[in-house]
Amino acid sequence: MYTTLKIGIDADGIATITIDVPDRPMNVFTPALTADLGAAITALGADASVRGVLITSGKSSFIAGADIKDIASAYDRGIAPTVAYQWSQTLSQTFRRLETIGKPVAAAINGVALGGGLELALACHYRVLADDAKAVVGLPEVKIGLLPGAGGTARVPRLIGIAAAAKLMTDGSSVTPAEALRMGLVHELAPRGEVASRARAWLMGKPEAMAPWDRKGFRIPGGAGLTNAAIAQTFSIGTALITKSAGRNYPAPGEILSALYEGTTVPFELALKLESKHFARLLTGAVARNLMRTLFLHKGELDKLSRRPPGEPKVELKRLGILGAGMMGAGIAHVAALAGVEVVLIDATDGQAVRGKAHAERQLARDVEKGRRSAESAAQVLARITATSDYAGLAGCELVVEAVFEDRAVKAEVTRRALQVMSKDAVFASNTSTLPISGLAAASPRPAQFIGIHFFSPVERMPLVEIILGKKTRPATLARALDFVGLLKKTPIVVNDSRGFYTTRVFGAYCHEGQAMLAEGVDPALIENAGRLAGMPVGPLAVTDEVSLELQYRATRQAMEDLGERFVPPVSMPVLTHFVEDLQRLGRKSGGGFYDYPADGPKRLWTGLAQHYPRAPVQPSVEQVKQRLLHIQALEAARCYEEGVVTTAAEADVGSILGIGFPAWTGGTLSYIDTLGVARFVGDCEKLSRTVGRRFKPPRGLKARATSDTPFHPRPATGDAA
Ligand code: NAI
Repeated sequence: MYTTLKIGIDADGIATITIDVPDRPMNVFTPALTADLGAAITALGADASVRGVLITSGKSSFIAGADIKDIASAYDRGIAPTVAYQWSQTLSQTFRRLETIGKPVAAAINGVALGGGLELALACHYRVLADDAKAVVGLPEVKIGLLPGAGGTARVPRLIGIAAAAKLMTDGSSVTPAEALRMGLVHELAPRGEVASRARAWLMGKPEAMAPWDRKGFRIPGGAGLTNAAIAQTFSIGTALITKSAGRNYPAPGEILSALYEGTTVPFELALKLESKHFARLLTGAVARNLMRTLFLHKGELDKLSRRPPGEPKVELKRLGILGAGMMGAGIAHVAALAGVEVVLIDATDGQAVRGKAHAERQLARDVEKGRRSAESAAQVLARITATSDYAGLAGCELVVEAVFEDRAVKAEVTRRALQVMSKDAVFASNTSTLPISGLAAASPRPAQFIGIHFFSPVERMPLVEIILGKKTRPATLARALDFVGLLKKTPIVVNDSRGFYTTRVFGAYCHEGQAMLAEGVDPALIENAGRLAGMPVGPLAVTDEVSLELQYRATRQAMEDLGERFVPPVSMPVLTHFVEDLQRLGRKSGGGFYDYPADGPKRLWTGLAQHYPRAPVQPSVEQVKQRLLHIQALEAARCYEEGVVTTAAEADVGSILGIGFPAWTGGTLSYIDTLGVARFVGDCEKLSRTVGRRFKPPRGLKARATSDTPFHPRPATGDAA
């Protein structure tokens, strides 16, 4: 009668519940599992022959937590606050029934136990955890904008004290078995194969079937309530730390602290109810919805190559050619070799190619040093990369990626040379970050087999790849590019051709706006801080220094040449030109740009900025600067959508967060517009267009959306409390 678990009762009266959710690689709390567990607790509670209950998993892990995909898709149907509260209460009360079943309950945690999985174990009277590096435990809900809603905020502080509980939950990171034992989250560690027998042995010892907090006279370790100085400090310092690390953009850490504070000054049953109230507030708010929808639902779909044209046969990539062994080419060679692909890495001279391969060698040596890889495996990976200046090596490659200088003539030359050697059915890709693909494809007699595969720097760390379709790119070429990205375990978005495609356009808008403000006399420290407070990883001036002012200047000059009369100079043009042509401050690589980079300390804003761009007597507020920096990017994304450059809101969102660090709390560029409300966003932009510049003028399609009240993503039916 159960579909997600099995129950066996042995001769000693020990009932073993083995959780094994069908069709899932890991156990997650589906509605069926919650129902089965509830029914099992009722049945075992009533069965007089049962003297103890053991809970374990039929998979290699214990339970990985909630079914995020299920929650994320529920948003489109709408989650009312009362429903959200009930979701939390259903699980929470089920666990409470287990805890108060009147018979001892032990958890044999044979592997990873996260979120609801750990909360279930915490409701057991005894916990044995596998002493295995992979068997980490934790409460990562904060990472999806939530809090542990199945008793976590009530049990953990009662078990390990408020300060340690606050850290565990606001951090969201997992702890190792040894750490879990030290903290007191579990009672015992055992070899993986023995967790069940040890838990059973405890049950056989006729232990008391009661949680510590249900015993008379129980006190929270370390105390509770604001009259306790140490606890008061935990909450005041905690709030300050949270504001510093998460900014005010993420409500979950604050709600966790509130749940802990309120929940530890009231009886246990009430703490569970208060927790559900805070959980419901987060679940029905915009931030949790945005995080889950974009980073789990949509990213998950893209990772499964949802944009792959159906029916195209899969060509296994065995050999990859790379032209240009510079920063990008070397990085791509490294990640491809790690994925098991043979790589031919070509540069103008053998020496330059070898220097490119040395990048992989350094990274692999570091892996070996840190114990992440054996020396033998590192040598195998490195042996897959052949560094050469000889194009003949491209003969057997199914795919060749070009990453030479961002110069049309150089790219055309290497394309021609490569195509002379490549087989007729091989695909040629460019890693250009700005040049339109259809134009580059003109250098190939086979433009149908030409495509853009745009990696981000540093290649090893950046999870996104932007695939750009040229006008003539055929579906089989797209399929091969996507298979390559899938092999590297990166997330692909597919966009249509445009200068700067999607991500570089949006990213450029951020950089340009920062420079425009500098020219207006806005305090550069205000610009930079506002960027970070909005949730961007770095300020617009700092990031321009990183990619180099020279690169932006060159890209702008190239656009000017290519477009002639149609060229519209970006608002940053005067600043870029002044820095590159007059001041020769080209960015970080060349010693300094908007910042100085002293050898003996952290970077600091260049003191000359005030002389070249005197401060205006009246400064905008932080909120105004934040708004300009985020709105201009979202507006550019909306233009890309309207022009058909990016074709789904999901890709626009995922691409903006993973590719350029647009703040995750927004759910991405178009989700940001939805979160504010399209009409309000358009109204803001119209005002900015009048006061700041015409670049804020909203495009026609966006205005039509505002009028017809049509968001980019389906609007939840009810319950948007943000
Ligand atoms: P880089 O300057 O580090 O490397 C370019 C390499 O191409 C150099 O090693 C150079 O020797 C080689 N090269 C030049 N002419 C050649 C020829 N005729 N034959 C063979 N090799 C030749 O440049 P980077 O940063 O690696 O950029 C390469 C491409 O990747 C550019 O198209 C750039 O727009 C794009 N890109 C760059 C990103 C970045 O953050 N730097 C990010 C994404 C794309």
